[in-house]
Amino acid sequence: MAESQILLNDFKRLWANTGESVLEAVRRVGESGWYVLGREVAGFERSLAARVGRAHAIGCASGLDAIEIGLRACGVKPGTKVLTTPLSAFATTLAILRARAVPVFVDVDEHGLLDLDLCRTALASDRAISAMVPVHLYGHALDLQGLTELRDRFELTVVEDCAQAIGAVHSGRQVGSVGQATALSFYPTKNLGALGDGGAVTTDDAGLAGRCRSLRDYGQSQRYLHDELGMNSRLDELHAAILDHAFLPRLAAWTARRREVAQAYLSRIRHPEVRLPTLASAETSVWHLFPVCVPAHRRTSFIEHMRAAGVLTAIHYPRLIPDQPALRGQAFEVRAPLPRATALAAGEVSLPIHPFLTDDEVSRVVAAVCTWPAA
Ligand SMILES: Cc1ncc(COP(=O)(O)O)c(C=O)c1O
Repeated sequence: MAESQILLNDFKRLWANTGESVLEAVRRVGESGWYVLGREVAGFERSLAARVGRAHAIGCASGLDAIEIGLRACGVKPGTKVLTTPLSAFATTLAILRARAVPVFVDVDEHGLLDLDLCRTALASDRAISAMVPVHLYGHALDLQGLTELRDRFELTVVEDCAQAIGAVHSGRQVGSVGQATALSFYPTKNLGALGDGGAVTTDDAGLAGRCRSLRDYGQSQRYLHDELGMNSRLDELHAAILDHAFLPRLAAWTARRREVAQAYLSRIRHPEVRLPTLASAETSVWHLFPVCVPAHRRTSFIEHMRAAGVLTAIHYPRLIPDQPALRGQAFEVRAPLPRATALAAGEVSLPIHPFLTDDEVSRVVAAVCTWPAA
């Protein structure tokens, strides 16, 4: 019998794992007769805040919105310079631009995370940079102590982009504990993904939480009192109920399985041209992705070899954000050069990593990488 293809995400297995609980959550919402910003959203917000160790969580429509809402609620004004990474989902920068702020790009380190030493240099040389959106990319936590020092020394507004990193830790602290606000995404591929779009802002600051609640709901602080121009970025009751009752209770087990798969890849993949992620804290990443690096001129050969072996892969990300056509004509700055981000854009390949991979599939991925013919 032909072996089945190994997918990057397996939503049919997700449904097999959770379908009954999802249907129960749907029935409860249907029967409640209340579909937007009700008891389920409030309940999920409480569960989520407890899970990430913050005082408040505010559900919204997407991770993109969560970053924009976080920035605006923190008082980031049009024209504010915001330090960020050139290597991320486009949404990270799009949110900064939608807040009418000015992204300032700094290179990443060899793991693909924003280089905090370069950030320090940029901040010291340009005191007009007053905010930062660091991204915990691939599920790896940035150095939270280093981030805290930058925040305090330069009095920065920090909105952490934790879209890929719910639950990741560094030196015993969870991501999301440094920024005044933190953004999460529940896009289906995320470690905590919904059956559609969703996001949340988390914070310890009650006033900021109130501003986020207002911004997600047309900018109204009370019914029919609109203090500012907000958005419609409400999380609906259905997704809140599904996330709270079907998915969040399983997140710890799913993360543990991602870590097992990552450990298997790290200990068993050996190939002279495949560079594995070499994090100091491999067990504290939540492994949203498993990024390897191959020589740029050999990437197509690697991807085709994996596909022929029945393993689908992806690239995160093939084009740096400052090089995106949409940025033409926008105000932004690049603290050039960006050699590490450029190298990752040319050589990164993401191997399948999700909670429903079987041991046999993990072995097939390992074997496929190890049998890629060397140049
Ligand atoms: C790092 C990062 N930031 C922001 C986002 C935006 O999230 P969403 O797709 O929910 O808008 C994503 C996901 O696509 C992401 O991976």
